[in-house]
Amino acid sequence: MGSQVFGKTQSGKDVTLYTIKNEHGLSLSVIEYGATIVSLTVPDRDGTVRDVVLGYDTVAGYEKGGCYFGAVIGRNANRIANASCVIGEQLYELEKNECGNNLHSGSHGFHSALWKLDSMDEDKVTLCYESPSMEQGFPGNMTAKVTYELTKENQLLITYEAVSDEDTVANFTNHAYFNLEGHKAGSIENHMLSIYASYFTPVVDKESIPTGDITSVLHTPMDFRREHRIGERIEDAFEQLAYAGGYDHNYVLDKAEDAMQLAAVARSEESGIVMEVYTTCPGMQFYSGNFIDHENGKEGTDYQKRQGFCLETQYFPNAINEVRFPSPILKAGESYRSQTAYHFLIK
Ligand code: GLA
Repeated sequence: MGSQVFGKTQSGKDVTLYTIKNEHGLSLSVIEYGATIVSLTVPDRDGTVRDVVLGYDTVAGYEKGGCYFGAVIGRNANRIANASCVIGEQLYELEKNECGNNLHSGSHGFHSALWKLDSMDEDKVTLCYESPSMEQGFPGNMTAKVTYELTKENQLLITYEAVSDEDTVANFTNHAYFNLEGHKAGSIENHMLSIYASYFTPVVDKESIPTGDITSVLHTPMDFRREHRIGERIEDAFEQLAYAGGYDHNYVLDKAEDAMQLAAVARSEESGIVMEVYTTCPGMQFYSGNFIDHENGKEGTDYQKRQGFCLETQYFPNAINEVRFPSPILKAGESYRSQTAYHFLIK
């Protein structure tokens, strides 16, 4: 456990780094900028620790970076079509930061906010952010908290909590890019992956806005109910994969509403590291890192396409505008709470 100066933002504000550990050798460092996970070290099969998340060495890296490495995304993770939505009777216009749509709440999203320490323990840290009404175009003053905990069961457990004084959107995720062979190990295409979802939400075109349909994965390269190598079918002639240059799709998890259940298992045969993902959320974006393009990362690493993968637990993309999807609305005065756990094992 500890805190140290990580650096300064462009505007001269100090950014502190917090480190927590557990008894199994897991260690997590997060910074106040974006409540971002900057490193997560996990012992491999031989006991050698590997840092399994992509990141940058400096605050400037995170400020410049276009990939959201390790950041908390909010108030709305993923895309909102035409960057507009209706809440109550009112139309809200958001920033158009991707092809006329809103991605990850625009440039003032939680990923670029300066969070503050709320509380800290040996194995647990809570960061807090007061988001003023209309800051990202969404109504309501919101208090958001994210807690990272390294449990005795060897999980990184993330808890998101929020309250707002007006009805608003609450749909948070963490955008960690994993490479279970180490952040500078190169391609993730040899990782094995299972996703416990019989359905996914197909997208209209390259802009990745869902059609609104909930489609079976059966007989498609989207089916990960049985374990597959990530790279096995990624170049198949399948339109949905062509749109995104690989996997970048929301899975409709086979789980009971709000229950904490197993959503996915990723593992590397090379390192022996296995990561199970549990969540209370209804959806999960599997993103195979298709758009990473020469990101100048930690320890001088030049990250490239498909060198990290994301399993972003969430409400479905564009859920605020799609009546067929579970609603991401948080009512004024009510409490939002969701949890996602990454459980590390060795095989
Ligand atoms: C999400 C999106 C991807 C991409 C990344 C950030 O995962 O679904 O399309 O925009 O964020 O690069």
